[in-house]
Amino acid sequence: MPAILMKQISKAFDRLKALDHVDFEVDAGEVHCLLGENGAGKSTLMNILYGLYHADAGEIYIHGKAVHIANPKIAQQYHIGMVHQHFMLIESMTVLQNIILGNEAGRFAIDYAENRSRIDELERLYHFDFDLDKPISVLSVGEKQRVEIFKALYRGADIVILDEPTAVLTPQEVDVLFRILDDMRKQGKTIIFITHKLHETMVLSDRVTVLRNGKIIGSLRTEEVTPKILATMMVGYAIDFDIVKSTFKPGKPVLELRQLKVLAASHATISLQVRQGEIYGIAGVDGNGQQELEGILAGTAKPLSGRIIFNGEDITAMPAAKRKAKGIALIPSDRLQNAILPGMPIIDNYLLGFQHNSMFSHFGILRFNVLKKHADNMVNQYSIKISALEQPISQLSGGNQQKIVFSREAGLNPLLLVAVQPVRGLDIGAIDAIHRQLLQLRDRGKAILLISTELSEIMEMSDTIGVLYKGELIAQRKAGEVTIEQLGLFMAGERPE
Ligand SMILES: Nc1ncnc2c1ncn2[C@@H]1O[C@H](COP(=O)(O)OP(=O)(O)OP(=O)(O)O)[C@@H](O)[C@H]1O
Ligand SMILES: [Mg+2]
Repeated sequence: MPAILMKQISKAFDRLKALDHVDFEVDAGEVHCLLGENGAGKSTLMNILYGLYHADAGEIYIHGKAVHIANPKIAQQYHIGMVHQHFMLIESMTVLQNIILGNEAGRFAIDYAENRSRIDELERLYHFDFDLDKPISVLSVGEKQRVEIFKALYRGADIVILDEPTAVLTPQEVDVLFRILDDMRKQGKTIIFITHKLHETMVLSDRVTVLRNGKIIGSLRTEEVTPKILATMMVGYAIDFDIVKSTFKPGKPVLELRQLKVLAASHATISLQVRQGEIYGIAGVDGNGQQELEGILAGTAKPLSGRIIFNGEDITAMPAAKRKAKGIALIPSDRLQNAILPGMPIIDNYLLGFQHNSMFSHFGILRFNVLKKHADNMVNQYSIKISALEQPISQLSGGNQQKIVFSREAGLNPLLLVAVQPVRGLDIGAIDAIHRQLLQLRDRGKAILLISTELSEIMEMSDTIGVLYKGELIAQRKAGEVTIEQLGLFMAGERPE
C-alpha cells in the first residue's frame, strides 16, 4: 500500500490548468523525486497534499485511507510536513521559538525545559546541531532550511516534502542536506524531493515522477533512467546540452574594477576588467564577498575603497537608478528581495527600474502601449508561462519569475550585464535558453560579468575566469587554460604560483 496516493487530481487557476487529472503515488520509506519544467505544477501538487491549496477534483489517500486535507494543520495530523521554496520562519524569533511554534509542550505556560529535552533527543537522532537561542535573522540560508526540516520532524512528520531545497544552497550545504536526508531515510521517513538538478535525482532518489504542463508523463525507478531520458521526459524533446561558443573577440574595456575592497575583515581587493564581447566569470564558494560585490555593483552599497570605472567614467558614487540609465543591467541573486514587486502585475514589473527610460516615458507620461508591446515581446521571446500581463507576478512559478527578471534586464540593450546566479531555480530547458541568450549578448558586443557559485556554469560560459576568495581575486585565467580541479583549489584558498 502506498504511503501517498493522489488520484485524478485537477486544479485550475482561472483559465490556466495547473494540474490535469494527475495520478501520483509514493511508497513508504522511499525518496521520490518530482521533476518538471518551471510551471509544470510540482509546487501546486505538493501544496494540495499539504492542504494549502484545494484540488478542484480528485482524491487523496494516506496509507490507504481516503482523506480530506483542508489545511496544513490537518496535513500535520496525517504526519505530513513541508519545507517550502520560500521559507516560512519568523525572523525575529529564536530557533527554539520557531521550532516549537504552534506545538508547544506544557499545558498552560510553555514548558521550555520539556521542549528542549525533546529537541535534544531529535537533534541527536538526526545529527543536527542548532544554537537554539539565536534569532533566525542571523542564520545562513542553509541553517534556516535545517530549522524548517527540523520543525517538520519535531511535529512528527513521517512524510516530508521538500520543494527545491537545493536551489538556494552552496555545494557544501547540499552535502549537509543530503546527510540529513540519509538519516531520515534510515529512520524510515518518506521523502518527496523537488529539484531541477538531474544529478541530484540520480544520486538521491529511488523513484522519479515527471510532470509536464500539469500532466503526468511517467513514474519510473531511478535505476531505469538516465539524466538524458529524464530531460527528454521533462521538456518533450531531446535537449542538446552542447553549447557551441563562437571565437572570443574582445573589444574595448567596458567595466573596470580598480582595487575594490568589499570585505571589512580583510585587506584584499578585486581588480579586473570586462571588455565588449566578453563573459567574465567570477567563481567562488558563496560567502567570499559575492554578495557585497553585488551590492557595490548595483549601487546600493559603497566599496570600502577602490573605484569602479564604466566606459571610462568613474561611477563609484553613482546611485543605482543612474547606473541603469547608463546601460548597466543587473540580475540580482535574490529576486524576491531585490528584483520584483511580488504583489504587482507582471507588466508593472517590466517597468521596474526603467520608469525614466525614454522608451517608456514621454515628458513624464507613461507610454503604456509601448510598455505593453515590449512586455508581450519579452514573454514570447523567452517562452514565459503567464495567463495575462495583469496577473500579479507572485502567482508565477519561481522559474517564470526569474525569466521575467532576466528578460527585463537583458531586453533593453544594456552595455553591461551583471548576472548573479542567473539560472537559480530554472529548469534545464530554461537554463539552456538563458545561457544561449547570454552568449548572444556577448556576440553582440555586450560585456557580461557572471557571478556564480556553480562551477559548471562558470566553465561553460566564461571567456575569462576569476576566483574570489575572502574578498580577493586570487586567480585569473583564460577559459581553456584552467581545469575544474585547479579552480576548485583556488576556491579553497590555494594561491597560484
Ligand atoms: N496562486 C496561484 N494563482 C494563479 N496561478 C498560479 C498560482 N499558483 C500557481 N499558479 C500557476 O500554476 C502553474 C503551476 O505552478 P507551480 O508553482 O506548481 O509550478 P512548478 O512546477 O512548481 O514550477 P517551478 O519549478 O518554477 O517552481 C504555473 O503556471 C503558475 O503560474
Ligand atoms: Mg515550484
